[in-house]
Amino acid sequence: MNTFLQYNPTKLYFGKDEVKQLSSILDKGLKVLLVYGGGSIKRNGVYNDVMTELGKMDANVFELKGVEPNPRLTNVRKGVDICKKEGIDFILAVGGGSVIDCTKAISAGAKYEGDVWELITAKAPIEEALPFGTILTLAATGSEMNSVSVITNWETNDKLGWGSPLVFPTFSILDPSYTFSVPRDQTIYGIVDSMSHALEHYFHRTENTPMIDGFIESLLRTAIATGPKLLEDLESFEHRETMMYISTTAFNGSLANGTDGGDWATHRIEHAISAIYDIPHGGGLAILFPNWLEHVLEEDPSRVKQLAVNVFGISPEGKEDIDVAREGAKALRDFWNSLGAPGTLADYDIDDSQFDSIAEKTFIKPGVGTYKEMDLDSVRDILARSL
Ligand code: NZQ
Ligand code: ZN
Repeated sequence: MNTFLQYNPTKLYFGKDEVKQLSSILDKGLKVLLVYGGGSIKRNGVYNDVMTELGKMDANVFELKGVEPNPRLTNVRKGVDICKKEGIDFILAVGGGSVIDCTKAISAGAKYEGDVWELITAKAPIEEALPFGTILTLAATGSEMNSVSVITNWETNDKLGWGSPLVFPTFSILDPSYTFSVPRDQTIYGIVDSMSHALEHYFHRTENTPMIDGFIESLLRTAIATGPKLLEDLESFEHRETMMYISTTAFNGSLANGTDGGDWATHRIEHAISAIYDIPHGGGLAILFPNWLEHVLEEDPSRVKQLAVNVFGISPEGKEDIDVAREGAKALRDFWNSLGAPGTLADYDIDDSQFDSIAEKTFIKPGVGTYKEMDLDSVRDILARSL
């Protein structure tokens, strides 16, 4: 194992009706900026619950609504302007990963004199941030308990991941019943994204990590057992709570303890695709990940084989390692397809016309992949396999 520091300051309130904790967490009389998306929280009653709690605290509430999936810099800038103009004390994100990621950028931008894009592109250091909390309504990204955010700039067609220890949420409230209304397709993307985060961590090059490897394998097996049952009953509290805990755990830092942190090339390629095509993150991953596995197993099948055996229960008896690994990659693809996830780029009407541009955008920050370091040709190979 590598030496490591485990640090995560986010307080997690998990369970039914935990929104009621809000009034004990927040001080009275704060100026709060409420950030949310396109309106799902108004339709499913979450907005009312939150406003009731904020009312108890005599909060002075300002709103930024309409944060879009794959959140855009334009809304971040709007939020920063409100914070500066109104002297906001605290930001409350109510939504999925997009709303939370937008909030993280607003929180950093609100304490910076220049343009927030300079912070996201690391042209200027993040030295301070406005505190914020989250109320999660979609289990997928893990953004509710990490310090990562992904913002799209449509002026430059860049989708950039960035982070800072200053943008951990101070708290996150996770009520699984708030995810009952998540539509089927978004539920599928959430399962794929959570599993992909576990897989990214799994593909590391650190020796002697049996505890963390077994933890990841267990998480993946649980997702595989729960996903199909959840899709049969989208309002099952039992299955929603299992998936919610999986998605938070899959990307809150704990799966990186003692390892080099994992590969993450598939995420970089997906972000480059959705910088151009605006497709759902989980949909893009469902297409790319099995092809990344097939790409890497040709050089070194060992880890994909371990995944095949320990997660998908594929027997290695009397088989070459590479064949077991190939069965593992196929098992992952088959599982996601059986849920209804997309299987090829053509499912999103994407052809090879922008492949060069996608490959270039994958390297918007240097260094892609640790388990297997990518170059432009290897990214093109994975894209070609995904057609
Ligand atoms: O906008 P509203 O009306 O709220 O609708 C949203 C949106 O249309 C809807 N939704 C959310 N909760 C709902 C609901 N609909 C009904 N009932 C509910 N309870 O779902 C749609 C998608 O929401 P979004 O927040 O975009 O989904 P997700 O949580 O998957 O976030 C995706 C974004 O996060 C980034 C992705 O790249 C993408 O931009 N990621 C962030 C990460 C992080 N910060 O750690 C890591 C990830 O790898 C990922 O890259
Ligand atoms: Zn992801």
